[in-house]
Amino acid sequence: MKKRNLFLFAAATAAIVLISVINGCKVPEAIASKSGAQLWAENCNRCHNAPDPLYYSDSQWDVAMEHMRVKALLTDVEVKKIATFLKASN
Ligand code: HEC
Repeated sequence: MKKRNLFLFAAATAAIVLISVINGCKVPEAIASKSGAQLWAENCNRCHNAPDPLYYSDSQWDVAMEHMRVKALLTDVEVKKIATFLKASN
């Protein structure tokens, strides 16, 4: 490969890697556009009945959401939105 082509190839590869990294950090549209109440309704009844926000205090929801973050494989954004909804509704 000529030196100039090699440079172009390296630059293109770097650009592709950079774009993938930036895209990987973006919050998926499907989560970003949904409210906490929506995410709660869609996720929290997959394994049991979705719990009533009134069931727990704010600090208890913090603990329960850490448990469910692991069980339900939720992203940080989902946990934050759902916790905010639960705490605003209890
Ligand atoms: C993948 C299945 C699954 C999903 C999805 C799930 N849960 Fe759970 N949840 C469980 C299981 C299993 C338990 C009981 C065992 C335990 O607590 O470790 C539980 C227990 C709980 C409890 C009892 C207290 C506690 O902290 O364990 C609460 C409250 C709760 N879930 C809330 C939620 C909320 C809110 C969501 C939505 C963000 C959710 N769950 C989504 C599986 C799930």
